[in-house]
Amino acid sequence: MLERTYVMVKPDGVQRNLVGEIMSRFEKKGLMIVGLKMLQIPRELAEHHYEEHRGKPFFESLVEYITSGPVVAMVLEGKDVVGTVREMMGATNPLAAALGTIRGDFGMDIGRNVVHSSDSLESAARELGLFFAPGEIIEYKRALDKWIYE
Ligand code: RTP
Ligand code: MG
Repeated sequence: MLERTYVMVKPDGVQRNLVGEIMSRFEKKGLMIVGLKMLQIPRELAEHHYEEHRGKPFFESLVEYITSGPVVAMVLEGKDVVGTVREMMGATNPLAAALGTIRGDFGMDIGRNVVHSSDSLESAARELGLFFAPGEIIEYKRALDKWIYE
């Protein structure tokens, strides 16, 4: 089933010049970029985005981290894209993440784990709505699709 998910390169990923590398992995996998922007997340939006973690000990440092510099936000589309991107991203703690995953290859600390992606279709819909207006998600055809999907 074709799905959409919300993905972002976090401020550490931008500062460490990993934007191209990370986006390239998604492109090479066959996922389609249907929305893309750079922004510095305002505190209020960050608190909304990470609402489920409000009250946890790491909430304040998480909000500070995610608002500390620009992020690159994207909407990815593809077959089972929510689970696929979660697997490509790796475990939350980069030292526990498998090598070959983004966090496993590029991260050291749980509070600097380079990338975010929605963890379910429901959170994808919620997060897409927080970061993208409907008109900012682009529907288009890729000529290559017949070589990516049977
Ligand atoms: P994300 O939402 O950023 O994609 O990460 P995730 O689903 O893998 O992990 P989640 O449980 O949603 O946690 C959100 C972010 O909070 C930070 N965190 N710190 N110190 C801690 O115990 C702790 N736990 C989570 C991480 O930056 C994590 O990505
Ligand atoms: Mg999460």
